[in-house]
Amino acid sequence: PPTDGRTRLPPTNAPGRVKEVSSVSNPIVKDIRSLAQKRHREETGLFLAEGLKLVVDALDAGWQIQTLVIAKSASGHELLERTAARTVALGADVLEANNKVLEAITRRDNPQSAVGVFKRRLTQLAQLEAGKGDVIVALDRVRDPGNLGTVLRTADAVGAKGVIVIGDSVDPFSLETVRATMGSIFSVPLARVSEAEFLEWRARFRGLVVGTHMEGTVDYRTPKYDAQPTLLVMGNEQAGLTEALAKACDVLARIPQAGRADSLNLAIATGVMLFEARRGSLRL
Ligand code: SAM
Ligand code: CO
Repeated sequence: PPTDGRTRLPPTNAPGRVKEVSSVSNPIVKDIRSLAQKRHREETGLFLAEGLKLVVDALDAGWQIQTLVIAKSASGHELLERTAARTVALGADVLEANNKVLEAITRRDNPQSAVGVFKRRLTQLAQLEAGKGDVIVALDRVRDPGNLGTVLRTADAVGAKGVIVIGDSVDPFSLETVRATMGSIFSVPLARVSEAEFLEWRARFRGLVVGTHMEGTVDYRTPKYDAQPTLLVMGNEQAGLTEALAKACDVLARIPQAGRADSLNLAIATGVMLFEARRGSLRL
């Protein structure tokens, strides 16, 4: 095998480099590991996507890769090698790492054989567009990474035109959120805004603004979702919607419940609302 740290990948025009790393204290590995912290993700504008499927989804959707870390033990895996070659051709580096390094980067045992470092990408509110029957989801101060990831995945599944994260919320690019999206983070337009920015944009939104509220008086099946675009507004896990957001809605809808549970989990409630709003648009 080559001894200069390079592999046998074909030469390209503006290639990245292939390096071997075996130590968790290697400076490049340290930089990548630091992306577990929100502050470092924000400073660098980078985040991690774990697993070959996610990496391929991201590349297919045109997201910019900075570094691809692959398991040395997985050499010979065809898709992995093709993805590594693709990464190098895009001008990004490939690190061939041992299991110890991959475990340190992903912070778990039995790590995936590929982890991509990508440039994050957010959408501006002004770029979100919704026509008749379309839906955009807004989440007030979502705190749980699993909830946010699940909402992104579900929004993708119903063909939502965007997800807006309002106010002080969990970072959409945390490892846990990205994991929970199963790749949907790469295909659903995502905006992050303050409440004030949201309210200003909402004032110009042409469509029906449906808030969900435990004190809502409208059955969630009542609004005519097909007649115009819908902006669906979901509340924080603990506190529900702020007063200002609740006031900004055209209707406050509630999903009727039986049994003892006080409320539904945020991601479940969002799923129920999204499939109702998109009922007339989705076909087998
Ligand atoms: N204690 C909170 C409250 O009273 O608002 C419960 C919040 S709930 C866990 C999180 C969010 O999910 C709510 O703000 C609302 O948007 C939505 N939600 C949960 N159950 C709902 C229901 N039955 N009807 C409408 N929205 C619901
Ligand atoms: Co630091």
